[in-house]
Amino acid sequence: MTEVTLDTISNLAKKRGFVFQSSEIYGGLRSAYDYGPLGVELLRNVKAEWWRSMVQERPDVVGLDSAVIQARQVWQASGHEEFFTDPMVECRNCHSRHRVDKLDDPDRCPTCGKTGEFTEPRQFNLMFRTHMGPVDSEENMVYLRPETAQGIFINFENVRRTNRLKLPFGIAQIGKSFRNEITPGQFVFRTREFEQMEMEFFCRPGEADEWFQYWLDKRFQWYVDLGMRPENLRLRHHDKDELSHYSTSTADVEYRFPWGWDELEGIANRTDFDLKKHSEHSGEDLRYFDQESNERFFPYVIEPAAGATRTTFAFLIDGYTEETVNDETRVVMKLHHRLAPYKIAVLPLSKKPELIEPAERVAAELRKRWIVELDVTQSIGRRYRRQDEIGTPFCVTIDFDSLEDQAATVRDRDTMDQERVSMDGLTTYLAGKLV
Ligand code: GAP
Repeated sequence: MTEVTLDTISNLAKKRGFVFQSSEIYGGLRSAYDYGPLGVELLRNVKAEWWRSMVQERPDVVGLDSAVIQARQVWQASGHEEFFTDPMVECRNCHSRHRVDKLDDPDRCPTCGKTGEFTEPRQFNLMFRTHMGPVDSEENMVYLRPETAQGIFINFENVRRTNRLKLPFGIAQIGKSFRNEITPGQFVFRTREFEQMEMEFFCRPGEADEWFQYWLDKRFQWYVDLGMRPENLRLRHHDKDELSHYSTSTADVEYRFPWGWDELEGIANRTDFDLKKHSEHSGEDLRYFDQESNERFFPYVIEPAAGATRTTFAFLIDGYTEETVNDETRVVMKLHHRLAPYKIAVLPLSKKPELIEPAERVAAELRKRWIVELDVTQSIGRRYRRQDEIGTPFCVTIDFDSLEDQAATVRDRDTMDQERVSMDGLTTYLAGKLV
C-alpha cells in the first residue's frame, strides 16, 4: 500500500485542478477552498452516491433542501447559541489562537514554540453571525447554519404531513454548513465553509438502539462499497464525556488520514432532544400521532452525519497509489468508476486531421452517457499518465489502424490491459464495464 502524505495529495489536487485555495490571487483565504473542474465532478459524484443510497434506493427516506439562513430562534432552541463552542486559548507571546483539545502539548504554542504563555481557556462560539436586511442591529442578527440537521427538524411536520409518512422514516439533506473553526487545517479536512450530507431517521423510542446499530453498519459499508480500503476505516464509539449536548450515544466512522485516525462521519442517537426543544420554543406540537396505539409522542432520531468535502478528500487519499512500471513510477488515482471525475478519455495518437475527426466523433457519441475528455496534446505516454493520475478508468486511443479496421484500443486504468474494440461497439462495451 502506498503511504501518502498530506503534501502529496494537496499538491496533486492543485496541480490537476481538483481543489484551489479560495481567493488565491489575493494571497489565499485560509480555510475556504474552491473546487476546480475535476474536484467539482468528484464532489458531485460523492454526493450523488450518498443520495442514491440514502434516498433514491430507499422506500423510507425522502429529501429536503432547506435554507442556509434560518431564524435565530432555531439555534437558541437547538442549544447551539449556548453550547456550540470549542475551548480556545491565546498565546501571549505571538497572539495566535488555538483549540485546546487539539493541541499536542497543552502548554506549548505550536506557532511560536513558547511554553507557559497561554491565556485561560474560554469558550468560543463557532457560529458565523451576519445581519438580515440593511440594519446591523441585534434584532436583525442571524447565523449561517453550522449543521444542515436543524433545517430538517424545523420541517419535520411539513414533510411528514405532505408526504403522509409513517414511522420509521428519514429526511435527508445535502448542503453547505459554516463553522468559524478556531484551527482549520489539514487542507480541506477542517474548513470554515464545507458541505454536509445528513439524514435524520425518526423512529419509535423503543427501536432507537436497533436503528442506531443498523445505521452504523450501513454507513460503514457505504465507504467500503465505493472502494475505500477497509483497513483504513474503523468505527469508534464516543466516551460519555465526548458526547454532544444532544446525544446519548455516538460512534464515528474514522479514516486513517496521513496524520492518524480522524472522523469522517458521526452517527448519533439524538433521542427526542431536537423535536422537543423546537416544540417548546415554537409552541408547535411536533409530536407524532400513532394511529395503532392512539398515542402522541416525540419520535427518537438516529442521525448519520457525514462531510461531503471531507469524504471527497478521503477518497482522494485512499485512491492515491504509486506503482513501479518499467523502472518508472506510475501514479494512479484508483477511484471507484462511479466517483471518477472523467469516465473516459479519448486520445487520438496524433494531431493529424484524419485521426482528430474520428476521435471527435467517438467522444461526441460517448458524451451522450458519460463525462469524456478529448485530449490531443503531448505524447500518448504522458497523456496516459495524466489520465491515471486523475483517475480516469478508461482511455480510448484512436490510431492509424483505426482508419482501416474502424476499431480503437481501450486501456484499463488499473490493469493497463488493452483491448481492441470496434468504434461502433464502444458504448456497449464501456457500459458493461462502467456499472
Ligand atoms: N448534525 C451533526 C453534526 O453536524 P458533526 O460531527 O459536527 O455532526 C458531521 O459533523 C460531519 O460534518 C463530520 O463528521 C465531518 O465529516 C463534517 N464536518 C464537520 N465540521 C467540518 C469542518 N469544519 N470542515 C469539514 N467538514 C466538517
